[in-house]
Amino acid sequence: MHVILIATQKGGSGKSTLAAHFGALAQRDGRTLLIDADPQGSLSFWYKRRESETPLLAKADGNTIGATLDAARADGIAWAVIDSPPHNAALTASMMSRATVTVVPVRPGPFDLDAVAATLAMARSLKAPIACVINAAPPITREAETSIVAEARAVLAGMGAPVLPGQVSQRASLSHALISGQSVNEYDPDSRAAAEIGAMWSAVSELARAFPRKP
Ligand SMILES: Nc1ncnc2c1ncn2[C@@H]1O[C@H](COP(=O)(O)OP(=O)(O)O)[C@@H](O)[C@H]1O
Ligand SMILES: [Mg+2]
Repeated sequence: MHVILIATQKGGSGKSTLAAHFGALAQRDGRTLLIDADPQGSLSFWYKRRESETPLLAKADGNTIGATLDAARADGIAWAVIDSPPHNAALTASMMSRATVTVVPVRPGPFDLDAVAATLAMARSLKAPIACVINAAPPITREAETSIVAEARAVLAGMGAPVLPGQVSQRASLSHALISGQSVNEYDPDSRAAAEIGAMWSAVSELARAFPRKP
């Protein structure tokens, strides 16, 4: 089982948005369990609106996350995608140590970039693999990244933070999809938003496959 944790110590960066989308996309690659480990319950809000019965969803906290993952593994789940709260470092660390890879959503702006430092330091101390994903970026114009995204990449490179290529742009269709309990790939499959997040999931899943699965 591959365990993808979505985490950063910053609210509003796109953790729940990416978790819902990656969960729906992962299901195409194998049986998937979404885990809502944020008491705010954004992922559960989305799931309640969802008509499809897959992926599966479970809630978890610091006391139950280990057992939830063990049960998923025993049940033959191929992908576990965990959404996490921004301000519970102990929980994030315990989930990070169980994750195949931790995805860190970063808006290309100073506050999100600053927040990466804490998550990066945690990953280094745990020797846990992480990958930043640029989210809610201005859409690419003429096949070139906007300067704000190029600057964000430079800051992350300076910190030594690995960043996946590509970006997830700021697009209303992502929110529209989530309101109806869907991913944008289901809601508007031929959209640029669907293509971008599909490509990002491909990059994340390829990365996860390159790391050993957790026992
Ligand atoms: N790429 C995006 N395009 C448009 N809206 C986005 C995007 N990413 C996040 N949002 C919106 O920004 C807000 C915060 O995102 P959310 O996923 O809830 O962040 P977090 O879980 O990290 O707090 C939500 O209203 C969400 O719909
Ligand atoms: Mg959230």
